[in-house]
Amino acid sequence: MPSTPVTRPILTRQQARDFYDRFGRRQDRQAFYERRAIDRLIELGEFDSAEAVVEFGCGTGVFAQRLMESELGSTATYAGFDLSETMIRLTRRRLVPFGARVSLTQTDGRPRIPLPPHSCDRFVSNYVFDLLPNRDITRTLEQAWKVLRPDGLLCLTSLTFGTNALSKLTIAAWLAVHSLKPSLVGGCRPIALTDYLGPASWKVLYSTTMVAYGVPSQVLVAQPRGHGQDQSGTHERFVPETVKGSGNEG
Ligand SMILES: C[S@@+](CC[C@H](N)C(=O)[O-])C[C@H]1O[C@@H](n2cnc3c(N)ncnc32)[C@H](O)[C@@H]1O
Repeated sequence: MPSTPVTRPILTRQQARDFYDRFGRRQDRQAFYERRAIDRLIELGEFDSAEAVVEFGCGTGVFAQRLMESELGSTATYAGFDLSETMIRLTRRRLVPFGARVSLTQTDGRPRIPLPPHSCDRFVSNYVFDLLPNRDITRTLEQAWKVLRPDGLLCLTSLTFGTNALSKLTIAAWLAVHSLKPSLVGGCRPIALTDYLGPASWKVLYSTTMVAYGVPSQVLVAQPRGHGQDQSGTHERFVPETVKGSGNEG
């Protein structure tokens, strides 16, 4: 799989917020290519045994609603984060029936998850890393590492590079549009999630590329490494990773 491009124009946090505030419900139209990858992530994420799920970039709340209605146990909690006010409002509306089991936070777009260490057992992010600058992907992964319990799972989907003629063609066209004006494709560009997960901090349990309507998506499930016996609430053992292309974007 080709590596994540080193330099590409990336939406600033303000541009991303403005875009997704305007885009709102239309995000759900992306389901035509996201659906298969997300179905696979749900199969692999063992959500029936999850107790505390965090989602970074919850969008309109479709995924959260699906989890709460049909995947999670009746006492499991969900904490969603998003930088868009519109998205947080749409998610809040969808999740009203689940009351205090749900918490939603509108962020300032910085890669910060203000939760205690080891406080969740699933950290999910669907089609969000592909619009972040490389350094924010790395920092979000550091946050995921911190908040996940040692036996927790990192569950990600993302736009990625093509694997067959059609998907390679789609991505070539996608990148051409992205270079012209990133907002025309929601700021998203193909990335290889595995480029960001250093083996000292993450054990990749599953990674695959699925193509739907010519659009390739990566589905990845990983477990944090290096928490060891350290349950003290600090994450001093975190090993920063060197990421290909890091520091050149955004
Ligand atoms: C392409 S949408 C994906 C939404 C949802 N996860 C889905 O699969 O439909 C990207 C989402 O990430 C949010 N987002 C973008 N940049 C963000 C950031 N820096 N921090 C938190 N959320 C962000 C957007 O507001 C939007 O809701």
